[in-house]
Amino acid sequence: MKIYYFSGSGNSYYIAQKIAKKTKGILVDIAKIEEDIILEDKVGVVVPCYAFGVPDLVLKFLKRVQNKSTYSFFILTYAGYYGGTFKQVDNLMPFNYNKGIKMPGSDTVFTSKKSRDEKNDKIYRVADEEIGKIIKEIKTMKENKISRSFEYYLLLPVYKLAMWYFRGAKRGFKTNEKCTMCGFCEKICPVENIKVGDKVVWDDHCEGCLRCINYCPFEAIEYKKYTRGKLRFKNKKIDISKI
Ligand SMILES: Cc1cc2nc3c(=O)[nH]c(=O)nc-3n(C[C@H](O)[C@H](O)[C@H](O)COP(=O)(O)O)c2cc1C
Ligand code: SF4
Ligand code: SF4
Repeated sequence: MKIYYFSGSGNSYYIAQKIAKKTKGILVDIAKIEEDIILEDKVGVVVPCYAFGVPDLVLKFLKRVQNKSTYSFFILTYAGYYGGTFKQVDNLMPFNYNKGIKMPGSDTVFTSKKSRDEKNDKIYRVADEEIGKIIKEIKTMKENKISRSFEYYLLLPVYKLAMWYFRGAKRGFKTNEKCTMCGFCEKICPVENIKVGDKVVWDDHCEGCLRCINYCPFEAIEYKKYTRGKLRFKNKKIDISKI
């Protein structure tokens, strides 16, 4: 079984690799797929919710795959409210089994000044229990549909605006005096949108995953003034440089 994933801060990867271990699944990073592909046998997709929908490259992936699978599951990681994401996905590729898993918010770097470690530990504990149940259900090829048409149409303009905003995000990223030019952000950006030469430069195909801001070892990346003094989020259960 192949499990296709995309992950910004590592949450969706954390879920995908847990499922892969228990099902002998093979992990495939959606960001690394260049060719058109055919989905066959049993397949899974594990991705995050960004602005009440899936990241743009996931949307493009779902648009171009040929689905010949015998059983498919779709797992969405989200932090609080996923709106009509399942409807968005169902429009492109109806999955047999759909489930949302609540995870810590990777976007709290815009809002949180106080540590969320305790809160996040509880979220991981609940998520781990949930993954156990999901694995059992996937193994027995259970069906589960989630449809939220109303929310999908209501929030579609917000989603479109967010995706448009991410494409122009390069103007908002800045490094501060703590930057050592170590090159880590270039290495970990999942879509090769950063180059470190004489300075750190962002290109125009950002997915808005916030990995660079969250994982810069020196907290040297800011997004306009919004991330100044805010706590970075790291999924401590994974090694970001290996995903
Ligand atoms: C740009 C951005 C937008 C987000 N939008 C939502 C959202 O609309 N609803 C939600 O519940 N969580 C939202 N989140 C939180 C993520 O869905 C959640 O933290 C997810 O587990 C991140 O997974 P990842 O680490 O695999 O990228 C957002 C996160 C980011 C970075
Ligand atoms: S990871 Fe941080 S310190 Fe290293 S080059 Fe990028 S911005 Fe600078
Ligand atoms: S530039 Fe930063 S936010 Fe954009 S895709 Fe790369 S790591 Fe994610």
